[in-house]
Parts: sequence; structure tokens; C-alpha cells
Amino acid sequence: MDGGGQVQRSSTLPLHTDEHVVGVRKVVREQALDMKLSLVEQTKLVTAASELARNTIKYGGGGMVLAQTLSDGVRRGLRLVFADDGPGIADIAQALRDGYTSGGGLGLGLGGAKRLVDEFDIDSRSGEGTAVAITKWKK
Ligand SMILES: Nc1ncnc2c1ncn2[C@@H]1O[C@H](COP(=O)(O)OP(=O)(O)OP(=O)(O)O)[C@@H](O)[C@H]1O
Ligand SMILES: [Mg+2]
Repeated sequence: MDGGGQVQRSSTLPLHTDEHVVGVRKVVREQALDMKLSLVEQTKLVTAASELARNTIKYGGGGMVLAQTLSDGVRRGLRLVFADDGPGIADIAQALRDGYTSGGGLGLGLGGAKRLVDEFDIDSRSGEGTAVAITKWKK
């Protein structure tokens, strides 16, 4: 879960409702703008965050997201950790496969999010919850 770099600022946002998803999208867009990501990179990050926020609510029963601005001395980055105390993911490889869904979705959220960011980690155990961490660096 260590995306590297020193944490500059941390904040948490709750994830239980659709409005919370809107709020996360807004904060992530602002942070992405602040670190001067291109419009394309901003949109990739907001899209990934949105997919993971929806999963936290739909499958995790709600939770929170931790947002951390990072610096490794040269680059700035943004790390987002989506966490819930839900049922967990028994088979992570299966969950990452495009087209796999247990809830009537498209099954593209996790795999799609992974492709849109620089670093992607899932920590999950059956019955204990799930944490998905993504990091994007300003290149
Ligand atoms: N936080 C979570 N807790 C428990 N299971 C999860 C969690 N996030 C994802 N999953 C499992 O991983 C599967 C794949 O997730 P993914 O986001 O790729 O697809 P989806 O949400 O089913 O559909 P889509 O996102 O395309 O609408 C989910 O169907 C669910 O079984
Ligand atoms: Mg999804």
C-alpha cells in the first residue's frame, strides 16, 4: 500500500451516499488541478476514483476514502485509499477480470481503475473488508 513519497496532507471523506461520490469527484478534481495534471490525466483520476467510490458503497456497504498528497522530492502525487468493513473480496484476481461482476454491473470498474492510474493495490480478506489504494504522479 506504500505508493512511495512523503505524505504532505491527508484528509478523509465519508462514502455512504451518491452525494458522497459527487463530493469525492469534486475533491479529486480540485487536487488534480492543484498538482497541474493535464485535463486527460485529471479525468482518468476522477474516473478511477468514481468507480472505486461506487464499489465501496455498493459492495462494501459504505466506508471512507483517505486522500493524501505526496511528494518524493521531485514529483508530486495523489494517493487515494478507499476502505470499507464489508464482506471483502474472496478472489481478487477474479474481481479484477474485465467482465466479472457479482452485482449485475459491467465488471469493468476495478480493471478500468487499475489501468487509469500509476499504482494500484488491493488489500482484502473475506469477512474483514477491503482497501483499494491508487496513486497518480505528476510526470
Ligand atoms: N469494496 C468491495 N467489497 C467487496 N467486493 C467488491 C468491492 N469492490 C469490488 N468488489 C467485487 O469485485 C467485483 C468487480 O468489481 P468491478 O467494479 O470491476 O465491477 P462491478 O462493480 O460489478 O461493475 P461496474 O463497476 O462495471 O459497474 C464486484 O462485482 C464485486 O464482486
Ligand atoms: Mg464497480
